[in-house]
Amino acid sequence: MSDDKQVRVAIAGVGNCAQAMVEGIEYYRQNPTDTRGLMNADIGGYQVTDIVPVAAFDINAHKVGKDLHEAIYGSPNNAYRYPGIELEQSGVTVQMAEVHDGNPPALAEYVPQSDQTPCDVAQVLKDSGAEMLLNFIPTESHNAARMFADAAIKEAKIGFVNGMPTLIVCDPEYQKLAIENGVPLIGDDVKSQLGGTAIHRALATLMNQRGCHIDETYQINYAGNTDFANLMARGASKHKTKQGAVTSLVPYPVTMSTGFTHVPLMEDRKTSIFYFNIGNFGNAPVRLEAKLEVEDSANFAGVMVDMARLMKVALDRGVSGVLDSSCSFLTKHPPTQIPDVLARQHVQEFISGSRER
Ligand SMILES: NC(=O)c1ccc[n+]([C@@H]2O[C@H](COP(=O)([O-])OP(=O)(O)OC[C@H]3O[C@@H](n4cnc5c(N)ncnc54)[C@H](O)[C@@H]3O)[C@@H](O)[C@H]2O)c1
Repeated sequence: MSDDKQVRVAIAGVGNCAQAMVEGIEYYRQNPTDTRGLMNADIGGYQVTDIVPVAAFDINAHKVGKDLHEAIYGSPNNAYRYPGIELEQSGVTVQMAEVHDGNPPALAEYVPQSDQTPCDVAQVLKDSGAEMLLNFIPTESHNAARMFADAAIKEAKIGFVNGMPTLIVCDPEYQKLAIENGVPLIGDDVKSQLGGTAIHRALATLMNQRGCHIDETYQINYAGNTDFANLMARGASKHKTKQGAVTSLVPYPVTMSTGFTHVPLMEDRKTSIFYFNIGNFGNAPVRLEAKLEVEDSANFAGVMVDMARLMKVALDRGVSGVLDSSCSFLTKHPPTQIPDVLARQHVQEFISGSRER
């Protein structure tokens, strides 16, 4: 593969989502005619297999200093293993980053911190030739998230994809810096491929269209991965991005609750339970309950492989700042919330070149 065909990415946080993305890309490399599970096989001439990690950062002693293809299996990672997929060495060594707020007590129980000296993230990004930094660090690690955003947007001047709920792409300061530095942005917080948010939004849209009034709704999620151990202890920003993604679609105030529970034996399998208390004709009562079971990190990776390629297309075209169409379709908390059908149309227009961003 020639270098200009590559989508060169750096990864912050070699957790389950990174495991699923890296192993999933290898799945498609080994099964080149299989496009099942992809939202887009081709984006602007780029395939999923054109995505190449060139740098990675973590703080876990089982991951730092290891080759990326070894580190993705470091404890406590427990994402779905694609049958028959074995990875050779990648040549990318996971670098130690400043921990900041990335390993609070609820996570430190599972994550032994490396004692290596933190690297200069911006310098590693520059030396690696990364075109974008994909941020997969734990929810509520706001200071660490800003450290990575600063290194990418201000110093290395490369694209930034924010996969977690700290508001970076929605922050007007970062938006301004991105334009000044010629850097595209996608965020905040991935809206998984067929996840709780996508399904909750689809159900709410159906109720809007059918004239049903939503009195109250909840979404309860449980899984056994570290993301859920973390969310139980400090999930404030995730509650906010999840609730906003649904309530923003409903044209009147609606009561919504979200919950997260860590159930270790479930490993990386996530269950979401949706409940709606609705009124239909004459406000007659209707109750709706639905349940989803999904491999949590594969669900994230299926979106991230599109985000990375959409950002590459923006870089090829010299487009900087917020990539609105990608944000609205692919994230929970974009700068502009619009219905998914419209957002998807905007992404297709962006890919075809008839929409700038
Ligand atoms: N379906 C999904 O799984 C999904 C969907 C949307 C958003 N997200 C978000 O993506 C993020 C990653 O999820 P995950 O399941 O991979 O979590 P994870 O806990 O498995 O991985 C996070 C990784 O970040 C590392 N880390 C912690 N502090 C760091 C620092 N300062 N610098 C570098 N690395 C650091 C941890 O050691 C760990 O390897 C979370 O914020 C999560 O909420 C996940």
